[in-house]
Amino acid sequence: MILVTGATGTVGRELVGQLLARGVRMRAMTRRPELAELPDDIEMVRADLGDPDSLTAAMRGVDRVFLLSSGPEIPTHDANLAQAAARAGVEHIVKLSSGRTGDDTATDPIPTWHRAGEQAVRDSGVPWTMVRPLGFMANALHWVGSIRDHGAVYAPFGQGSIAVVDPHDIAAVATSALTTESHEGQIYTLSGPQPLSPGEQTEILADVLGRPLRYIEVAPATARQSLIDHGVQDEMADAIMALRATALEAFTSVVHPTVEHITGVLPRPFRVWAENHRAHFARAA
Ligand SMILES: NC(=O)c1ccc[n+]([C@@H]2O[C@H](COP(=O)([O-])OP(=O)(O)OC[C@H]3O[C@@H](n4cnc5c(N)ncnc54)[C@H](OP(=O)(O)O)[C@@H]3O)[C@@H](O)[C@H]2O)c1
Repeated sequence: MILVTGATGTVGRELVGQLLARGVRMRAMTRRPELAELPDDIEMVRADLGDPDSLTAAMRGVDRVFLLSSGPEIPTHDANLAQAAARAGVEHIVKLSSGRTGDDTATDPIPTWHRAGEQAVRDSGVPWTMVRPLGFMANALHWVGSIRDHGAVYAPFGQGSIAVVDPHDIAAVATSALTTESHEGQIYTLSGPQPLSPGEQTEILADVLGRPLRYIEVAPATARQSLIDHGVQDEMADAIMALRATALEAFTSVVHPTVEHITGVLPRPFRVWAENHRAHFARAA
């Protein structure tokens, strides 16, 4: 039995779908099963990474766990999950971490939180695999409103490129790690097939959507304010902006062969992600 945390999120939903397609027994974890909108035949458990007792209950009969945690709580939540897994005799934790955790020079919050979370998993004594993606292609969904309303993408750091990866491919690697052997103690840094700047992503989106789109570079302070306006807390907004700034560094533009090595399939290009998400960007009739 595989416990999937973060099952209602971007990567988790992909993972649930791929495990389901393989006929694997799984339990999807969420804080609000009534809002989960997961397939009806899936076993769900209500639990919170901040509530160790709920994790103990979620872990009953489980032998493998996909661990997804977010934000400043990552170190505490990963420790809670890993300790509950150790108590339950879980045999393998696959943690979704962050690509830049592997950049020793990265001292900004998100890789720092994930490093502490990874350490908590290691300290639990449960065998582990770390999945460390670079930026998600799905981050382009943040542009839905401005593309629909203004035919424009407003984003900072126009000179920066990230080898963005499709969450489908992240889930495919996690599926392999959870369902096949020889992944224990491995660290998988994942990228897509090519580094792209926000302007290049905008061009691909314009082509796929069949309408002209403009890329407009905005100052980091403007982008930060936009996050706050969308309800992101100050600490998280600063962490996201620090992460976005790393698009200017060479580390995030490196293409890694890992997706193909693990899954046997080439990572999907941004164009395919855009085609699969075309409906999100469509203007209301
Ligand atoms: N975006 C990127 O470019 C990028 C790049 C590399 C790594 N990452 C990492 O990817 C992760 C985010 O993945 P994602 O985008 O797939 O997540 P997401 O879409 O933001 O979804 C978050 C998930 O976490 C669950 N969750 C939140 N708080 C919880 C809690 N207290 N207890 C239990 N579950 C909780 C939510 O479930 P419910 O609300 O249903 O409970 C939801 O399923 C982060 O660790 C981030 O650092 C992101």
